[in-house]
Amino acid sequence: MSSVPSATTREAVLSRHRPGPDILPSSCVSIRESARVPLQAGQVRVRNEFMQIAAVMADLMSEDPGLPMPAYSLNEPLWGAAVGTVSESSADLPVGTVVQHMSGWQEECVDQAAAFYPVPVEYLPGREYVLNQGVTAYHGMVDIAGVREGDVVFVSGAAGGVGSLAGQIAKARGAAKVIGSAGSAGKVRYLVDGLGFDAGINYKDSSVQEQLAHLAPEGIDVFFDTVGGDQFEVAVQAAAPGARFALCGALAGQIDGGNEGSPRLDLMTAIVKQLVIRPFSTHHTPEQLAAWGSHYGQWLAEGKIVFPHTIIDGGLEAAPDALDGLLQGRYRGNVLIRLHP
Ligand SMILES: NC(=O)c1ccc[n+]([C@@H]2O[C@H](COP(=O)([O-])OP(=O)(O)OC[C@H]3O[C@@H](n4cnc5c(N)ncnc54)[C@H](OP(=O)(O)O)[C@@H]3O)[C@@H](O)[C@H]2O)c1
Repeated sequence: MSSVPSATTREAVLSRHRPGPDILPSSCVSIRESARVPLQAGQVRVRNEFMQIAAVMADLMSEDPGLPMPAYSLNEPLWGAAVGTVSESSADLPVGTVVQHMSGWQEECVDQAAAFYPVPVEYLPGREYVLNQGVTAYHGMVDIAGVREGDVVFVSGAAGGVGSLAGQIAKARGAAKVIGSAGSAGKVRYLVDGLGFDAGINYKDSSVQEQLAHLAPEGIDVFFDTVGGDQFEVAVQAAAPGARFALCGALAGQIDGGNEGSPRLDLMTAIVKQLVIRPFSTHHTPEQLAAWGSHYGQWLAEGKIVFPHTIIDGGLEAAPDALDGLLQGRYRGNVLIRLHP
């Protein structure tokens, strides 16, 4: 018996602005039913299969996040990366095409065909593999930090979505030693045993400064920072002359608030060592996408990298709580929600 499609679908909307980092993101989101609208000319309907959640989504819930991307609006669906399949089309994009797009947080979505990017998933182990943060990691590690053979590299937030790929990219580019920091002994083991890092630091366990001095007595050449706070200050002290810093994120401030996002820069040390400190914000230009795309599938196939990710079942309902859990350090790698059983 063929099943009749439901007249409604579900989406997650911003029910209130997030007042501050101490408020759980899930308390600002509600799930609502919406009517399935008929397609207009040029539109397609996509059944979303996986959506990605990321730390920045919690920031986008505040009233004025000051980020280079649109903030979430009250009573409007949240947005975010997703992958799905075209289920109905009145455009030049055939039913059955697998597409990537930014209308996540919805079980299905309707938009102009141009809003959807067909993705050649044949070269990947699964379609969820397109939902990675490799463009950011690659751009920061290669273009901003200029990682090269023989470098000693330190990655903060190394078990997270961006950091877990950044460290592997450094290894694939010939770094001599890659050290990552993470918030539990299990995650540190994962960095070394699962991702091929040379060593890991549990920043909650004992002094990062002492652990880094022990693991990299020669000094670090590259610092890929997703955390800021104390770890940035420690990296300045641990840097080798001319070290390159790629500043990607400020998780300590984004999540814990206070001054954690505004570390002190020891200017004299930075000057004497002639550190190159470059904050960056990726805008996913076609060049950046192509650069990462030219390596990702090949490195996966060659076993040079893995795609670190956690898949959460439970559908759209599971997503708000999963975002709380991501900030609390519950998961490893990129965090993906399976939207349908
Ligand atoms: N510059 C750009 O263009 C760009 C693009 C994308 C993302 N970003 C930024 O990059 C950063 C990483 O993004 P992501 O999506 O990969 O996030 P993520 O690492 O998945 O974020 C969650 C992780 O943050 C860690 N964490 C929580 N509180 C912390 C604290 N006080 N100190 C240190 N770590 C803490 C936890 O790991 P532990 O258990 O290890 O603590 C948790 O698993 C974010 O700041 C994001 O906004 C920047």
